[in-house]
Amino acid sequence: MAMQLNQVVPFGRSFDEYVKMFSLSEADLQKSILSVADGPASFNAEGTARGYPIQSVDPLYAFNVEEIRSRFYAVLDNIIQQIIDTEEDWVWSYHASVADLKAHRIAVIERFCADYPTGKQQKRYAIGQLPHLAYGSGSYDLGLCSHFLFLYSLQRDTAFHIAAITEMLRVCREVRIFPLLTLNLETSLHLPPVIEQLQNTGYSCSIETVEYELQPGGNQMLKIHKSHLEMAERRLG
Ligand SMILES: C[S@@+](CC[C@H](N)C(=O)[O-])C[C@H]1O[C@@H](n2cnc3c(N)ncnc32)[C@H](O)[C@@H]1O
Repeated sequence: MAMQLNQVVPFGRSFDEYVKMFSLSEADLQKSILSVADGPASFNAEGTARGYPIQSVDPLYAFNVEEIRSRFYAVLDNIIQQIIDTEEDWVWSYHASVADLKAHRIAVIERFCADYPTGKQQKRYAIGQLPHLAYGSGSYDLGLCSHFLFLYSLQRDTAFHIAAITEMLRVCREVRIFPLLTLNLETSLHLPPVIEQLQNTGYSCSIETVEYELQPGGNQMLKIHKSHLEMAERRLG
């Protein structure tokens, strides 16, 4: 189903936030990265400028730069007011205050918008949506998914999560997902069955604490890759 822009909250995070959310090392950043549900984050724009190979996928990229920017400014004040109303429910360590968060989100959307037309021409921003990805098996070293899977657990069931993550693992040798909390600040109920299913099909899953927390308790990332046993069996044929 085509995406309706008026249902999207186009808030994006910066390169530095991605580095912290996913504990990305310099070696990780040198890998080929597929950032799924990348939306209006400035990860690709800033990462490309630094010479890192990043591909972004999101249904949002069906829209042009002005449509995405106008949607951002149309919802900005309402969302910031909701955060002001619930200020104690957030962790003010990375962002010092609501005003700082707002300024950061504006800087991110403007950085994204400045890069988006060129990035689209260069095919760094591709239209696509989980649970299907238009890439061959093993095309990327590292797949990232920030603020989509698990966060929208009420809107997407366990089967969707399993299908989406399995598809990311078909395309990427390793997958990292952040955060593991829902919008209601609870650990997603999909997390245990997703991990069980992935482990049953030969993947290693680990939950790692990271240096980024805006939702209280939302400082954990799920890391998934083929288990060593499975890789050894494959090598042996
Ligand atoms: C809250 S934004 C997160 C953007 C970015 N990853 C970040 O953290 O700054 C969620 C994104 O998920 C995208 N999205 C919605 N449905 C999707 C799907 N089925 N597959 C991939 N992305 C989807 C939306 O278009 C939106 O850009």
